[in-house]
Amino acid sequence: MSINQQDFTYVQTLVRQKAGIIIDDGKEYLIELRLKPVAIKNGYENVSGLVQKLKEHSRHNGTHEQVIEALTTNETSFFRDLHPFEVFKNVIVPELIEKNAATRTLKIWSAACSTGQEPYTIAMILRDSFPQLAHWNVSILATDLAGKVLDKARSGVFSQLEVNRGLPALMMVKYFDKQGDSWIIKEPLRKMIVFRQLNLLEHWSGMHTMDIIFIRNVLIYFDVEAKRSILKKVRELMKNDSFLLLGSTESLINVTTDFNNVRHDKTFCFKRKF
Ligand SMILES: C[S@@+](CC[C@H](N)C(=O)[O-])C[C@H]1O[C@@H](n2cnc3c(N)ncnc32)[C@H](O)[C@@H]1O
Repeated sequence: MSINQQDFTYVQTLVRQKAGIIIDDGKEYLIELRLKPVAIKNGYENVSGLVQKLKEHSRHNGTHEQVIEALTTNETSFFRDLHPFEVFKNVIVPELIEKNAATRTLKIWSAACSTGQEPYTIAMILRDSFPQLAHWNVSILATDLAGKVLDKARSGVFSQLEVNRGLPALMMVKYFDKQGDSWIIKEPLRKMIVFRQLNLLEHWSGMHTMDIIFIRNVLIYFDVEAKRSILKKVRELMKNDSFLLLGSTESLINVTTDFNNVRHDKTFCFKRKF
């Protein structure tokens, strides 16, 4: 039995309100596809049974979370798009090492980090190219809405397929151990990152000023209002010298004029306007 219009609208509204994610009309097949496994796991024959349960328990519980998580897109890879990480290595970090020399601190946030390939890429570059940072206070915070992807990120365990996507062989040898069919991030690298659950749409508690913010390939799922409210909060975490990096296909045109962009080859870096 496929999902009826009422149930579709209910799920559409739920994920929009709770995660900011827009599911366009006509995407019933997507909801069916993503929620069928959640329905079966929770003992329902079909998606309608699952949605019924959600409606009965209007207060959010584990099932609501499972539904929202199932409807997020977690696509990611090591060194995704490569060029932003070249700019990170060749421009951003050298500039911040100079500017932050007095405090010897470097604070990086990977927002919407999915299964961790982005923060681990950041950690590998810092370890590999900036030995002087060993004497600095470097923090990498990696957050995501979905607990399931964060568990995987924290575990640091990746399949052959995942490491084949973008990870240079030299990095694999240097920073991973092979265990059976999997590759595991070495402990010192894993320890460089703090993973935390954070919904970009909700109040961000305990956040501090950042030097570099990666918020890549997530704003595309939100409507303009949600993008604006997130970017307003992002701006508050940025200093004069801080950098913001978006996904390669994302721009701030028609969203906000609060940032200046600086182009380095194919990569746009954003700086807060004062
Ligand atoms: C496509 S992945 C991007 C991963 C990584 N930043 C990259 O570019 O490879 C999008 C991530 O955004 C997360 N996400 C979706 N809605 C969110 C929200 N409201 N708050 C925080 N994270 C969210 C999803 O769970 C997913 O892991």
